[in-house]
Amino acid sequence: MEKIQLKVPATIANLVCGFDILGMAMNEPFDEMEFRLLEEPKIIINHTDSFGLPTEPEKNVAGVVILKILEYLNLNLGVEVSIHKNIKPGSGLGSSAASAAGAAFGLNKLLGNPLSEKELVHFAMYGEELASGVRHADNIAPCIYGGITLVKSSDPIDIIPLSSPNLYVAAVHPQVEVKTSDARQILKKHIQLKDAVTQWGNVAGLVAGILKNDHALIGRSMNDVIVEPVRSILIPKFDMIKTRSLELGALGGGISGSGPSIFMLSENETVAQNIVEMMKAEFTSIGIESLVYVSKINNEGIKLI
Ligand code: HSE
Repeated sequence: MEKIQLKVPATIANLVCGFDILGMAMNEPFDEMEFRLLEEPKIIINHTDSFGLPTEPEKNVAGVVILKILEYLNLNLGVEVSIHKNIKPGSGLGSSAASAAGAAFGLNKLLGNPLSEKELVHFAMYGEELASGVRHADNIAPCIYGGITLVKSSDPIDIIPLSSPNLYVAAVHPQVEVKTSDARQILKKHIQLKDAVTQWGNVAGLVAGILKNDHALIGRSMNDVIVEPVRSILIPKFDMIKTRSLELGALGGGISGSGPSIFMLSENETVAQNIVEMMKAEFTSIGIESLVYVSKINNEGIKLI
């Protein structure tokens, strides 16, 4: 196989109450990646976007994943990767996971699929570790498997793909910077048992709602008494946007990953469109530009194009 091209989806981690364990793939936005094997043992990374990400393989999210896979398979060959990111770094929409998962998936395809999906998750987590200092798989898993996934455990890796409800995602990315590492740093290290009990109820309710395709249960389970109260202070207008989204008909939603993006789920496209218009207007009113997306849940994950 000479060359392959991929479409790599944005993902929403946590799904509000499932910190580091739940995630969902979207149709929009997505990155494009192109891979070519080289006879010379070197890794070339080209960025065709304007984000100025590093191109040295050891400092690049895709680069470290490729290095680890080549080392594991004991292969002395090279790879050229061209990356066009539409998922902005630092958006909370799984930008680093897209590069990491795309690199693992793309190289595996070029090599004739020597690795299982579970192994792809394992190697892609090296990219997440480089980006945020933590090996979490809640963006990587839905990026690779598609739909909504549960990371039952990341060590050892145990991924449970869940069924995908037929829902719309409304997402806004306000142009303020929130680094995942900072958004993790501020979290409390200890939680109250009563909060844990509430959160367990919500996570279990959300998973049950997804499996039963019970939209009302999904909506009332998307509550977070542990992470959101701390992180939401980093996002201007968060509380107001959440309240207004629910008034406009959202089932529920909250911070996307570590923010600053906010997402809401709804049963129909018109509601999702109304929500993103409101979100954009709220940020514009305080002088913050934003990007908005309306998308179905993406059931396919990374796709060859
Ligand atoms: N689960 C991670 C977090 C996702 O919330 O920090 C980061 O993209």
